[in-house]
Amino acid sequence: MTMSEAVRGCPVHTFNPYENSPVGTKLARYDQLREEAPIIRNSIAQGYYVVTRHEDILATFQDPETFSSRAVEVFTPEPDYRWIPETLDGDEHFQWRRQLGPEFSPKSVARLDDTVRRRAIELIDAIADRGSCEFMADFAFQYPTSIFLELMGLPIEHLDHFMEWEHDILHGSGSAEEVVARQTAAMGAVNEYFAGVIAERRQNPGGEDLISKALEFQIDGAPVNDEDMGSFCLLMFMAGLDTVSATLGLSFYHLAQHPEDRSRIVENPELIPTAIEEFIRVYAIVVPSRKATRDTEIAGCPVKAGEMIALPLNSASRDDAAFEDATTFKIDRSPNNHIGFGAGPHRCLGSHLARRELKIALEEWHKRIPHYRLGEGVAPHEPGNMLGIDAVSLVWEPAQGATRP
Ligand code: HEM
Repeated sequence: MTMSEAVRGCPVHTFNPYENSPVGTKLARYDQLREEAPIIRNSIAQGYYVVTRHEDILATFQDPETFSSRAVEVFTPEPDYRWIPETLDGDEHFQWRRQLGPEFSPKSVARLDDTVRRRAIELIDAIADRGSCEFMADFAFQYPTSIFLELMGLPIEHLDHFMEWEHDILHGSGSAEEVVARQTAAMGAVNEYFAGVIAERRQNPGGEDLISKALEFQIDGAPVNDEDMGSFCLLMFMAGLDTVSATLGLSFYHLAQHPEDRSRIVENPELIPTAIEEFIRVYAIVVPSRKATRDTEIAGCPVKAGEMIALPLNSASRDDAAFEDATTFKIDRSPNNHIGFGAGPHRCLGSHLARRELKIALEEWHKRIPHYRLGEGVAPHEPGNMLGIDAVSLVWEPAQGATRP
């Protein structure tokens, strides 16, 4: 990260937010930027702002008229695609959310519990007696991806394709041009796949899966067309898979290195829901962006219409002005009113499902493999704009497998 002179009273840095860096680099960078100033400019590519404090990040989410969701990737201020509902504004967004809401209510997602638990147990049982695993490949990438396939009514045999596309869209590393090129190619492949599924569901309507349900939605009094259905499927794919994998990866990376926290979870599983909130707070993975619709000001810095603004949630969550001893993980932190799922009209639609997936994974894993530590190997990296982790090598005494219920 290099620094040059301030513009418009705001410090300027140059760093690639997609850099494939050793795990912890991104958290450290945003912690450092927050100490330095409430808003900084990153001069890479066309340049964009980074807001660093909880109060200003929250206020930006809560003013969607000034800060549009039409563009949510800092390198793509003029996207020629839509991700529904993520890149919608105003009434169109509201109409989608109103109809999607019931599909993601606590009651609706509870219906997936048996499938989710079965899948967790299946994956853990396959490795418990081995005494070691690469947690991301063997568990964390497969688990939410298979739940997504179930939610969308797609065959589990397509898991490998989805994991490949997911990698290229969300874990791209390298120069801005390389990242965008790989994302574009993979998004094309996902679109083509879903176009076939949508056509098939139109032929056989009335299913219980999310695609069939969305085909019954009305937007401005008309059914959703094929293009918008495709944009909806693509967004569900991007929003629901990697977020859970990354949060699981960082949580297990933490637990493998903090036996005191792990013992508390093993001895007192009722702590798991509080622990999950704290993982989502302290390692808040998403770095959403917005685009200014008019000339405005953030934390005293003038921002012009059309400029992009990144809102790193980890920086908001680790701000001492909002949370006591904010950069410290406290397994029983309460209250914990974090914004790891975002805030304002675009707050995560899948938060109830995500919490259940994380809870079931932590419960079932620790029943079967309560004691584990990091294995030897290459230091893990965090590719892409979000926080995340590409590999977590875990080792344990396989005899623990015999104690499983
Ligand atoms: C730990 C896991 C997860 C985290 C941390 C997370 C975080 C977020 C965040 C921060 C946003 C707001 C983005 C913005 O304001 O631009 C968001 C939006 C969204 N999330 Fe999640 N998410 C998770 C899991 C899921 C899951 C499992 C699903 C569904 C299967 C999901 C579906 C969505 C959707 C559809 C949106 C867009 C909402 C809108 O634009 O109105 N998320 N998520």
